Amino acid sequence: MRPSLSVDIAPGRKNSLVLKNPVMPASGCFSWGQEFARHFDISALGAVVSKGVTMAPRQGNPQPRVAETPAGMLNSIGLQNIGIDACISDMAPIWTRWDVPVIVNVAGDTVEEFGEMARMLDGVPGIAAIELNISCPNVDMGGIEIGQDVGASARATRAAVRNTDLPVIVKITPNVTDPVSLARACEAEGAAAICAINTVLGLAIDVRRQRPVLPRARGGVSGPAIKPIALRIVYDIARAVNVPVIGCGGVGSGQDAVEFLMAGATAVQVGTATFANPRALLDVIEGLEAWMSANGVADVNDLIGASFRSA
Ligand code: SIN
Repeated sequence: MRPSLSVDIAPGRKNSLVLKNPVMPASGCFSWGQEFARHFDISALGAVVSKGVTMAPRQGNPQPRVAETPAGMLNSIGLQNIGIDACISDMAPIWTRWDVPVIVNVAGDTVEEFGEMARMLDGVPGIAAIELNISCPNVDMGGIEIGQDVGASARATRAAVRNTDLPVIVKITPNVTDPVSLARACEAEGAAAICAINTVLGLAIDVRRQRPVLPRARGGVSGPAIKPIALRIVYDIARAVNVPVIGCGGVGSGQDAVEFLMAGATAVQVGTATFANPRALLDVIEGLEAWMSANGVADVNDLIGASFRSA
């Protein structure tokens, strides 16, 4: 018999969110989904996560916006996107036709904007959940300015949760000393799940020009280089909160997914791996299922937190 891959990432909520498997793209690495829908059946995914959407459309940061790093990538996109009105009017109707839940990643400039965007998305057909992006390192307002502050993270969560019945997932930054207190504060304000982690602040130097490669100097490191950091933070948060944790950071194979689940994640996001391998999400799902079959695991939920349950 095939193992069961189904998980619930918002148990007990008015709108719970049961996924057919625990694998979804990381925000920003799957655009709005249509491009990938042309290449494979995206209903095979557990969920789709949109690019970060802001109140007004954004052009993003000047080029270059990415740099290669050892075992990873540095980005400073600056939340280029079409804005929330176009997301609702142009994208959501397409998503209603998909047999996969769509999670919209929202990035407010202020705490109040997180509340306002949650209100705008509430009840829109085609949208299954909201992911609060309080962790983008590449913008002047919002992003880690909010997400590095426990009080502001809590207020942004509260502002969103009180304005929507949709499950609110909060994507937190690793660029703090104590990510657990961020997660606890967001849980206390009604977050349905915590996504950990966004990118790790980094820098690349152009030795010929004798200056940073990226125009804003700093960017966010992603890919296999940050997997041990992400695993550590998922492990710490999963033992500290009672809501599901979605693991993100260097996931590119079924084995990676198994490690994140055992560290306490209920689901995983696949980001940078999709740039080198557009099929990476499918490879993760197939690899996870194959690992479970080979190891006699009938239900993926039995893997969640296995590393500390058995410690
Ligand atoms: C970006 O658009 O700069 C990246 C988004 C993010 O890190 O949340």
